[in-house]
Amino acid sequence: MLQDRVILVVGGSTGIGRATAIACGQAGAIVVVGARDHAKAEEVATEAASAGAARTLALPVDVRSSDEVDAFVSKATDTFGRLDGAVNNAGIEGRMAPMHDLTDADYAEIMDVNARGVFFAMRAEIAAMGAAGGAIVNVGSVGSFTGLVGQSVYAASKHAVWALTRSAAVENAGRGIRINMIAPAGTETPMLHRVLQGNVEAMRSAARMHPIGRFGTPEESAAAIVWLLSDASSFVCGQSIGVDGGYSATLGFNPQAALAD
Ligand SMILES: NC(=O)c1ccc[n+]([C@@H]2O[C@H](COP(=O)([O-])OP(=O)(O)OC[C@H]3O[C@@H](n4cnc5c(N)ncnc54)[C@H](O)[C@@H]3O)[C@@H](O)[C@H]2O)c1
Repeated sequence: MLQDRVILVVGGSTGIGRATAIACGQAGAIVVVGARDHAKAEEVATEAASAGAARTLALPVDVRSSDEVDAFVSKATDTFGRLDGAVNNAGIEGRMAPMHDLTDADYAEIMDVNARGVFFAMRAEIAAMGAAGGAIVNVGSVGSFTGLVGQSVYAASKHAVWALTRSAAVENAGRGIRINMIAPAGTETPMLHRVLQGNVEAMRSAARMHPIGRFGTPEESAAAIVWLLSDASSFVCGQSIGVDGGYSATLGFNPQAALAD
């Protein structure tokens, strides 16, 4: 599906990013794994190679620095001669607290990674793709469209990802660059376990909020991302795909789940 396409995965060391790098490998891509921890990026690049990647490269990148993001995109593009696709997955949940208890630093920490980081990455990727075109997939959240209790700034940052996605999509559609987003709900990753603090009861109850009755897997998000990167989605532009087990279709009212509690 992505044979010999040069695909960057920004924030590729764990969770959805790791699963995406491996899925791109399975699809035959040339996979560039970017992560703050170079050793972890190397590990995931090796997994992507075992899965079938045409070639792999692991590079360090912290999305809080535009210099690092620019260097990462340049190095990948110089190495392989072009850039066909990119996945902007890096994100943090930040400290969870009601809005009136959040500090300036809490706000800056979350926005710097989740919103500004996606801006830095898309800006560099679009410039690198240029007239040759390509596909970009950003990782938003159900919080791109709803408020979240205790995670107001996270939700604001993910709303920003959606606005950046749509704006860049319409700016670049005529240049052959398609830009879309996935919006996962609860997905079994290290982030989810941190958010629910490993509390088994909370995990069970939160899983039931999804009409399908469970959390998603990173591989299920990765499958949607690979499809959006591929020519199979050639007329899909400026869209969000909810990889959410029906979560966003319910408006939160789920009597079956309440009865089971
Ligand atoms: N897990 C969920 O339930 C869920 C739900 C909706 C959206 N998401 C989103 O999915 C994306 C992936 O999260 P995940 O669930 O796999 O969690 P995760 O914590 O396993 O992965 C987050 C990744 O982002 C990287 N990262 C964080 N800060 C970075 C920085 N400054 N520079 C570069 N990389 C950085 C981490 O190293 C890690 O690889 C995030 O954007 C998250 O907001 C997750």
